Amino acid sequence: MNFELTEEHEAIRRTAREFAARSVAPIAAEIDKHARFPKELVDEMGELGLLGIEVEPEWDGAGLDPLAYVIAMEEISAACASTGVIMSVNNSLVCDPLRKWANDAQKDKWLRPLATGEKLGCFMLSEPEAGSDAAAQTTVATPSGDGFVINGVKNWITNGPQADVGILMCMTDREKGHRGISSFIIDMNAEGVTRGPKDDKLGIRASHSCQIFFTDHQVSGEQLLGKVGDGFKVAMSTLDCGRIGIAAQALGIARGAFEAATRYATERKTFGKAIANHQAISFMIADMATEIDAARLLTYRAASLKAAGKRHTTESAMAKLMASEVANKVAKNAVQIFGGNGYVTEYPAERYYRDAKITEIYEGTSEIQRVVIASNIIRGLA
Ligand code: CAA
Repeated sequence: MNFELTEEHEAIRRTAREFAARSVAPIAAEIDKHARFPKELVDEMGELGLLGIEVEPEWDGAGLDPLAYVIAMEEISAACASTGVIMSVNNSLVCDPLRKWANDAQKDKWLRPLATGEKLGCFMLSEPEAGSDAAAQTTVATPSGDGFVINGVKNWITNGPQADVGILMCMTDREKGHRGISSFIIDMNAEGVTRGPKDDKLGIRASHSCQIFFTDHQVSGEQLLGKVGDGFKVAMSTLDCGRIGIAAQALGIARGAFEAATRYATERKTFGKAIANHQAISFMIADMATEIDAARLLTYRAASLKAAGKRHTTESAMAKLMASEVANKVAKNAVQIFGGNGYVTEYPAERYYRDAKITEIYEGTSEIQRVVIASNIIRGLA
């Protein structure tokens, strides 16, 4: 597999890195502290084409490949993981299923404004009793007129408080289990859709999530994404791509924590020398660098398979599993290297540590990634 970056990849890295240094890093601590949604950064990401990176120019996107998306995600998440996930949800969980499953009329109406950042999207799969067991949907769409009427509750919906458009999974036929799930494109400002208060979270505090309530919410048949009964496949194939985005977010968190800790270790002195020159710290630095590179290679591999149009379920799960566990280990060691300064909000280490945790939970916990990897391996052998 060849990971030579093209001039286009280098260009998006420059764009994302400059944006991160100019606009994101200076406010990352402040938006985390106040759990403030960074609307100004979302607007700037829209102008830079970062909200529809893989969307074809025909639908007003940047028309770049999955590797370009991963590169940009890592750069932005290294500065601020909250901003990273806002971007990731719009790109992977909303634009991507629309690219794959929507018809041209739906793309014209919904995808175009999402790709430019004029509108922001969210993805509504999880429910209070349907997290890891995604097929256990209780939100129901019942046929009504030329469409459906929807009732139920969705949980932990990232971008939920701000979203204009949502991709919803819900039951259209309980008898059929996962084959009775369908997917709809939702106008989040329409009647019958309400939002709960924003969740008070451990990390990624500037990215907001909330419950979404559907009360006799009427949708037309034109809002059905794919066919009736396609919803579980829409969700799973979307998560195959979303997990690459979260792997890249985790990579960014790990790199941000690593760079901050390494810089600190060369400046801080104990026993007459920089702590980086004590073997205990230098070995941590060596392990961090090695594991970050390993996670990056797995993430680039999953992105390259996606670019080649190949199935990448297992490779995406491996990338997310590895990168999220590396992010947690690296962030934990970064706090350790910072010592007392790692435990106070004056330095960034504690923020990376808090932000890293969610990458082992959302878009499938580490346990679910292991289920996906193992079952695909075993199925291949059977
Ligand atoms: N692509 C396409 N189809 C797939 C698929 C994939 N990756 N994975 C499974 N399927 C299909 C199967 O082929 C099967 O098809 P048939 O109808 O032909 O039988 C069907 O889906 C059912 O497959 P399984 O029997 O494997 O399904 P399952 O019920 O055992 O569940 C699971 C599998 C992997 C555990 C799944 O439930 C899962 O991924 N759970 C985790 C959910 C998750 O990641 N949630 C994240 C929420 S979004 C979020 O977190 C966003 C955010 O905040 C940022």
